[in-house]
Amino acid sequence: MSLSLSAEQPAAPDVADDGVWLECIECGDTFAPFDDVRYTCDECDGLLEVRYDELPTFDDFEGHGVWRYAAALPFESGVSIQEGSTPLYEVPRLEDEIGVKTLRIKHEGMNPTGSFKDRGMTVGVQVAKELCVGRLACASTGNTSAALAAYGTRGGMETLVLLPAGKVAAGKIAQASLHDARILEVDGNFDACLDIVQELAAKGEVYLLNSLNPFRLEGQKTIGLEILEGFLADYDTVPDRIVLPVGNAGNTSALYKAFRELVQAGELDEDDVPKLTGVQAEGAAPMVEAIENDADEVRRWDDVETRATAIRIGNPVNAPKALPGIRETGGTAVAVSDEEITDAQRSLAAEGIGVEPASAASVAGLRKLRDEGVVDDDERVACLTTGHLLKDPDAAAAAGGDPEPVPADTDGVLKHLHQ
Ligand code: F0G
Repeated sequence: MSLSLSAEQPAAPDVADDGVWLECIECGDTFAPFDDVRYTCDECDGLLEVRYDELPTFDDFEGHGVWRYAAALPFESGVSIQEGSTPLYEVPRLEDEIGVKTLRIKHEGMNPTGSFKDRGMTVGVQVAKELCVGRLACASTGNTSAALAAYGTRGGMETLVLLPAGKVAAGKIAQASLHDARILEVDGNFDACLDIVQELAAKGEVYLLNSLNPFRLEGQKTIGLEILEGFLADYDTVPDRIVLPVGNAGNTSALYKAFRELVQAGELDEDDVPKLTGVQAEGAAPMVEAIENDADEVRRWDDVETRATAIRIGNPVNAPKALPGIRETGGTAVAVSDEEITDAQRSLAAEGIGVEPASAASVAGLRKLRDEGVVDDDERVACLTTGHLLKDPDAAAAAGGDPEPVPADTDGVLKHLHQ
């Protein structure tokens, strides 16, 4: 199976362009990477992956940000706003409270537009330039639209975003709007938006930059590479486990691909690959259901709801890539309640780390798995926090304390403080 950790590195097919090609994960058919616009397999509609005839080694990585990892990407550089090189915070109190050997927080909210989506867009928008497409588009729970708008306009292209009406956090809409995206508010959920934008893309109206686009996931691989390099530098070993929020399962797929490529290159031992551990909100947990039932396919949930609107997704399109990633690495998936998410958001905030609700799901999930004894106390763990607190100011304000009204004089303020 092509998505197994022990898969052999394939030889470059004739269609390869400079050692890069696209391959269907279902039937193995191969395609030229930059000749035509294509998101899925022509033959069987399976998901595509980008393949390389030369795999990267740690020694190949130099410089800063996403493009430090150019050896693992299809280009040397792309449309960039200095994405990547995000902090890997220590959280001593949380580490103690949860009770693991090491806990680090990879805070992707520190990217230029405040989420990990920038890593995928720097590559995906570059591909759009190579393909000379006109209009870029995505369906989004918010962050993808903010990143697409920023990278699209920087690359000099028009952008169109489809958002579920009333279900996108304020900061994200503001970003998409100011970065000049045309915003369509759809009377339906994210999955309906994605269905529509896929049909628009199939009709040639737009170039699709959702994580169905295999090039976006190439950029997102760099999250995994940064985490590994960070742990190797500080502990001389890679983490035992990486815990991450799951929506469309793009990151889960991307991290798994990054690790598979390192294994194939002989840079990482198969047994050392971090256990990929996905976390979903209870009201939108089709991946968790599939893992728990040991199912081959994920059942689409038509009614989804959670305060973590970024992961309010019922049809994780990257599931065929992500399920093997979770299983082959010995990971798992867990669902958490909105209350558990907000508690974790407060715990991170108490360490000075501001994240949006979906991001806190990773820490909530780790806490739950530790309580259940699934995670051992001697594990070294990295939790991914995917978006910044300011993305969803309403959720942050609701989770925090209320401002206290006081009169505009010092005596009045002192009286209030001492009462
Ligand atoms: N966390 C945040 C903050 C997100 O915005 C998303 C996805 C995820 C986690 C899930 O990541 O899809 O790779 O499993 N947001 C998309 C969007 C759907 O439109 O912004 P995934």
